[in-house]
Amino acid sequence: MAFVNLQNVTYKYPLTKEPVLQNLSLQIQEGEFVSVIGPNGAGKSTLCYALAGFVPHFFKGEISGEIEVDGKLSSKSTLDTWVLNVGLAFQNPFNQISGAKYTVFEEIAFGLENIGVPRDEMKKRVEDAMSLTGISELADRSPYSLSGGQQQRVALTSILVMRPRLLVLDEPTSQMDPIGTREVFGVVRKMAEEGMTVVMVEHKVEWIAEFADRVIALKEGQILMEGKPNEVLTSDLLTENGFGVSRYTSTAREAKKQGLWKKQNLPVTLDEAVEGFKK
Ligand SMILES: Nc1ncnc2c1ncn2[C@@H]1O[C@H](COP(=O)(O)OP(=O)(O)OP(=O)(O)O)[C@@H](O)[C@H]1O
Ligand SMILES: [Mg+2]
Repeated sequence: MAFVNLQNVTYKYPLTKEPVLQNLSLQIQEGEFVSVIGPNGAGKSTLCYALAGFVPHFFKGEISGEIEVDGKLSSKSTLDTWVLNVGLAFQNPFNQISGAKYTVFEEIAFGLENIGVPRDEMKKRVEDAMSLTGISELADRSPYSLSGGQQQRVALTSILVMRPRLLVLDEPTSQMDPIGTREVFGVVRKMAEEGMTVVMVEHKVEWIAEFADRVIALKEGQILMEGKPNEVLTSDLLTENGFGVSRYTSTAREAKKQGLWKKQNLPVTLDEAVEGFKK
């Protein structure tokens, strides 16, 4: 049995006419790092909410089908218990900040405090998590004084510190520079190696190609395509459906038309492009 199992999930928000997720079925293995891509409004965030229990438990609306994580059904759980297993970093990191705490350290400790983790253990877990995501020096800052990228790191850290079995990240690097982005992908990869299951919505296809195990291309609430990152990210289907592709893919695709790209597969990353053009 897959660790995450979505079976024919159809979901409509209370105020929308059409369902945003349409008969979606999806299986994810434990320890797998899956990346979700898709145009604006495809339903990526809604899929994150569904995995994290906010759909339907918080947003209400109409849902059919089943959402199962670690053998438990979302429909038979409450949000309180669901979030102990599944951590979500929201698309806008600002929404993650509790507003109840003065420092980044306290902010990250907040979740552990709520579940009654003893003081000493809490301190150690927060320090370890901050060191993992490279924000130790922000400990005494106010969460509101941070840049967008720093807030995103704090949001990620406050989820990781809870050690969820399933980590759901909604565009966690959107406000980060390339160095920050690479670090986040590295941390996420490491968590997956240690057995955490990861679903990450992202646009940065070159990093996805390098780090993710599988890519799911979502369009209009349905899976357009899924598979190995290079296969999906270089597919003509993506270009035809208005997905963003890597500049190396589009360059090589043009070169191929002129007989200048000899390999079967198109590249996604710079390294793959350089390698391919050498031949
Ligand atoms: N809380 C809500 N109530 C009603 N409709 C919503 C709500 N959140 C999203 N929607 C609608 O659901 C559809 C899918 O939105 P969603 O945010 O899941 O897409 P997305 O793929 O994450 O888009 P983006 O790339 O802009 O983040 C959109 O038409 C959006 O307007
Ligand atoms: Mg979104």
